[in-house]
Amino acid sequence: MSKQKFQAHLGMSDILPGESSAWLRVEKIIRETAREFHFEEIRTPIMEPTELIARGVGQLTDIVSKEMFAFERGDDKYVLRPEGTAPVCRAYTEHNLGQRGGTQKLFYIGPFFRAERPQKGRRRQFHQFGAELMGSADPLADVEIIHFMMTVYKKAGIKGTSLKINSVGDPESRKTYKTALQDYFRPHLDKLSEISKTRFESNPMRILDSKEEEDQDLITGAPKITDYLSESSKAHYELVKKYLAALDIPFVEDSRLVRGLDYYTETAFELVSGDIGSQDALGGGGRYDLLIEEIGGQPTPAVGFACGFERLFLAAEAQGISFEKEQSADVYIVTRGDEARLWALKQLPLLRSNGLSATMDYAGRSIKAQMKDANREQAKFAIIVGDSELETGQFTLRNMTESTEEAMALDELISKITSA
Ligand code: HAM
Repeated sequence: MSKQKFQAHLGMSDILPGESSAWLRVEKIIRETAREFHFEEIRTPIMEPTELIARGVGQLTDIVSKEMFAFERGDDKYVLRPEGTAPVCRAYTEHNLGQRGGTQKLFYIGPFFRAERPQKGRRRQFHQFGAELMGSADPLADVEIIHFMMTVYKKAGIKGTSLKINSVGDPESRKTYKTALQDYFRPHLDKLSEISKTRFESNPMRILDSKEEEDQDLITGAPKITDYLSESSKAHYELVKKYLAALDIPFVEDSRLVRGLDYYTETAFELVSGDIGSQDALGGGGRYDLLIEEIGGQPTPAVGFACGFERLFLAAEAQGISFEKEQSADVYIVTRGDEARLWALKQLPLLRSNGLSATMDYAGRSIKAQMKDANREQAKFAIIVGDSELETGQFTLRNMTESTEEAMALDELISKITSA
C-alpha cells in the first residue's frame, strides 16, 4: 500500500521552529506598544456568522463576493474570519463593552483567511495585528491609531515606509462624489475594464482602486473626493493632518485611496513599502463611524488599523533585518547509566525553576553522542553525571563555548550557570 503524503493547503504555511522566534519577537513589540498606548487585548473566535461579515465588510467587496471560506452546519452559516474589525464590533455590541465607560481601546493578533490567489505577500491564511479605538469621533483618535501602527514598524526597525492618507468623507460627501464620478465615467463606459464596468452603478469609488491597465488614464483625470467633502468632513480631515504634523509623522495625501472594504467613513490610510513587491500595503485602516450601528449596535464612532505579519517579515528580509534570537539551551545534562538519567529527570525542574532553559538526552545515547547533541542544541553548559558523581555529589560542569571543565556541587553549579 502506498503511503499518502500530505501538504498544507495552497497559500497556507507552517511557521517552523527556526522562524517562530522572529514571530514571538514581533508579537512582543506589538504587545509592548499596546501597553504604552494603553490598548487592551481582545481575542475573538476564528469563525464568525457569515452574515456579520457580509453586512460589515460589504456584499460587493472582493472579500465577501469571492474570497470567503464559508460553510453551513445545521441552520448556522460559518465563515473563517477574513478580517478583524467586524468581529471586534460584534464583540463590542454583544458584550456592551461601551458600558464600561470612556473609549474602548482594543488590539488583536491572530490568523485571518481569504481565498485569494496566492502570490508574494498574499496568502490564504495570513496573520494580522490590529487595533480599534471605539467611542470617539475625534480626529485625535485617528492619529493615535496611526501613531500606534507607525510605532510598531519603528520599533521593528523597518525603514522606507510611506503613509498614505485620504478622506472618503461622510455619507453626504460620498453621495455627491458618487454622482460626480458617474457623470465623469459615463461617457467613457465602453473604455473601462469589465470589472470597473460592474462597479460603475454599485460602487464607482472602487473604480479608483482598479489595477487594470485600460482604466489608468481615465482614473488619473477623475474628480477627487477631497473636492467634494462636506464642511464637517473637511474640518475632520484638516485636523487629522494637523495632528500628524504635530507628531512629526510624515504622510502623503492620495485622493485615490479608497480601500477594499465598504465600512470606511472620513479618514482612510495605508502604510506602504517599496520593498515587498506588488502587494505593497504593510497595513491599512481608517474610520468606520457607521459600522457598529450597521451590525445592530448603538451608533458608535470608531477608527482602527490592521497590518500583516507576513508583509512585515518580507520588508524585514528585504532590509536585512533579522529578528531571530539564538535558540540555545542554557544547560544540557549528559548522563552515564540509569541512575544518572533518573537524577537528571529529577533535577531538570530545579534548573528550570531557576529560569534556565534545560534539556537532556531522550534517546539513551552514548556520552559522545550526547555531547554532540548538546553542541547541536547550542547548549552553553553541559552537566556530566555518572555513578561516581552521584556518589560524591560533585558534578562536572563543562563550559561548551570555552571547552573548560570544573567539578562542583549542584547549588554552586546552578549559580555559576545563572550568572553566566
Ligand atoms: P486590509 O487592508 O484588508 O484591512 O488588511 C490589512 C493588512 O492585512 C494588509 O495591509 C496586509 O498587510 C494584510 N493582508 C490582508 N490580506 C492579506 C493576504 N491575503 N495575505 C497577506 N496579508 C494580507 C483590514 O483587514 C481592516 N480590518 C483594517 C482595519 C482595522 N480597518 C479598520 N480597522
